[in-house]
Amino acid sequence: MSQQFDVIVIGGGPGGYIAAIRAAQLGFKVACIDEWKNAKGGAALGGTCTNVGCIPSKALLQSSEHYEHAGKHFAEHGIEVKGLSLDVGQMLKRKDHVVEQNNKGIEFLFKKNKVAFFHGRGSFVKAVPPGEGGTSGSTGGYEIKAGEESLIGKQVIVATGSNARALPGAPFDEENILSNDGALRVGAVPKKLGLIGSGVIGLEMGSVWRRLGAEVTILEGLPTFLGAVDEQIAKEAKKAFDKQGLKIELGVKVGEVKSGKKGVSIAYTTAKGEAQTLEVDKLIVSIGRVPNTIGLNAEGVGLQLDERGAIVVDGDCRTNLPGVWAVGDVVRGPMLAHKAEEEGVAVAERIAGQHGHVNFNTIPWVIYTSPEIAWVGETEQQLKARGAAYKAGTFPFMANGRARALGDTTGMVKFLADAATDEILGVHIVGPMASELISEAVVAMEFKASSEDIARICHAHPSLSEATKEAALAVDKRTLNF
Ligand code: FAD
Ligand code: NAI
Repeated sequence: MSQQFDVIVIGGGPGGYIAAIRAAQLGFKVACIDEWKNAKGGAALGGTCTNVGCIPSKALLQSSEHYEHAGKHFAEHGIEVKGLSLDVGQMLKRKDHVVEQNNKGIEFLFKKNKVAFFHGRGSFVKAVPPGEGGTSGSTGGYEIKAGEESLIGKQVIVATGSNARALPGAPFDEENILSNDGALRVGAVPKKLGLIGSGVIGLEMGSVWRRLGAEVTILEGLPTFLGAVDEQIAKEAKKAFDKQGLKIELGVKVGEVKSGKKGVSIAYTTAKGEAQTLEVDKLIVSIGRVPNTIGLNAEGVGLQLDERGAIVVDGDCRTNLPGVWAVGDVVRGPMLAHKAEEEGVAVAERIAGQHGHVNFNTIPWVIYTSPEIAWVGETEQQLKARGAAYKAGTFPFMANGRARALGDTTGMVKFLADAATDEILGVHIVGPMASELISEAVVAMEFKASSEDIARICHAHPSLSEATKEAALAVDKRTLNF
């Protein structure tokens, strides 16, 4: 006899676990199935984000930043550090502990919200017609295999995430050729580290290992650096990365990749057409991610996928199958944990007959390098492309008192506002704590604020957020401190 649920969620990453909790809050009987295993083979809720993504990468970014500060920046504060040394093992242990705390936190939340958790693979068995298989009411449902158990759910939310994309002919061995997983487990600092792709992972992981002492080279296929980022901001960030010694080669064509006992050799053609070979001890491949539907038996029940392997959904995350929804990395849209979470919440609310909504125009992006890069809304090049009339205002952290006190004056805040109405169309930040500063811009844009609204709000002094206020003032050409 199958166990019956109102809602079955397949996948316990940020999209899935949040959907499960919200559905339980709304009074549904909920099950969540997740197959992730920790090193001991036990459950490790939280998906890519918690286990090999957002959380461990930020733990290593923090540790490596402390190391760099102690070695290079404490002296200017009059703090002398003698005999500075690095214990990569301890750094990785701390990172693993942070991950475990998050895994346990989600387990606790499931208990608190009475979400039934099944550790194992979830796959569709068949659609159960209304009135059959024990489902009450007339809605029918789906039989889902959860490991060895059989469940029936009236509604199913698929949140099976994504996997790293490998270079053709160079599969991940997680020893020499690393995905994001192996990149977070390197046991000793490689002398030379190569990365393919100067996107978000390339820059974050490249920064970690550069700070710890590796000579880092990133090979990027596109001729422009961070093409999705506002050009002025990307240019400022590139200047900072160049100064740090992060080597980024743009416009290359990667050829044969050979992995052996001595490391990895990567043949490539430069933007000028010269044939080159990069020899490194380890190679991280960070060229994007592919939606994951492995083992779901999507084809068995006729769940429609697109040519990229993503589950096809409408604007409300409905799939082609009645009562089956999909959220997060496995569907269209940015592959971000907070986007997955918002979709999870919205779907649970829609199942309850409410009007859950995700505003794609106000999803913030953050790259956690130093300087941090964060943005929301349109870039200047996007506004130009659509012929929008806009005003721009920038304010450099160099002119911000708190940034000077912190000793981190790189970068700026940039506002883009509608020329006629002054409504904020985009905010772009490169600089200290951009990840935190961007929230004000997100709130402002959600409330359809004008740049004048931000300019008129009292911001604490001295704070980095004063640079946000000043950039808003700059839209009207009336900065006070620059
Ligand atoms: P996932 O987190 O991938 O979770 C899917 C879960 O489903 C997994 O646990 C998987 O094991 C499970 N699963 C899959 N198939 C089945 C099945 N058939 N049965 C049972 N279980 C199954 N995003 C940010 O917003 N901020 C960041 O700072 C950030 N940093 C990142 C750093 C790295 C290195 C990487 C790789 C990603 C990062 N991301 C970040 C992206 C973020 O991790 C993803 O967008 C997010 O995890 C997507 O959530 P999800 O729930 O859709 O899928
Ligand atoms: P990405 O899409 O950010 O960057 C991939 C880069 O690789 C691009 O610049 C692309 O032009 C380049 N590329 C692709 N194929 C190539 C090839 N054959 N040769 C050379 N260059 C090539 O993907 P990434 O960095 O793998 O990250 C995946 C996703 O994970 C991100 O898009 C993001 O959604 C998420 N993520 C988010 C983070 C955050 O929010 N801070 C941190 C890390 C990942």
